Amino acid sequence: MSAAERDDEPVTVVLTVNGEARTVSMPVSRTLLDALRDDVGLPGSKTCCAEGECGACAVFLDGKVVSSCLVLGVEAEGHEVTTIEGLSSEGLTDLQEEFLKAGAVQCGFCIPGQVMAAEFLLRCNHSPDQAEIREGMAGNLCRCAGYERIVAAVQATAARRGGAQ
Ligand code: FES
Ligand code: FES
Repeated sequence: MSAAERDDEPVTVVLTVNGEARTVSMPVSRTLLDALRDDVGLPGSKTCCAEGECGACAVFLDGKVVSSCLVLGVEAEGHEVTTIEGLSSEGLTDLQEEFLKAGAVQCGFCIPGQVMAAEFLLRCNHSPDQAEIREGMAGNLCRCAGYERIVAAVQATAARRGGAQ
């Protein structure tokens, strides 16, 4: 059997997604992004560049934001995965509300990834200034170019959470 054929062989993987164990069968070569969307049934993380350049597929892996298109599903076994669905399992978060209030959601395609990246930033830095927000979210591209409004939404969330501006 060639290496490529081996990578296509299905294996059983137990993923912990949004606090729930999900047992799925997938080829070794399947990305975490594809596993989440196609095997676990959570389409909130978006497929765009599929090479780590746009941030549309951002999820948390053990609390750190990662591009799920760059992680194999099998590599995520034994780790905690949180998707946008998990982040907002009890309704819109304050951050999502501020995105809406700021008019930061245009076509919406990049927004799940933007929200995951912004949430991670705010957990690391409770009162980021504009430059820190731009730097922290530099890996998240928006084709509608709503960056000003996204930055405003993140700042408003920081203020709402009690971070100094
Ligand atoms: S789809 Fe993963 S970074 Fe673009
Ligand atoms: S809102 Fe359209 S790509 Fe960002």
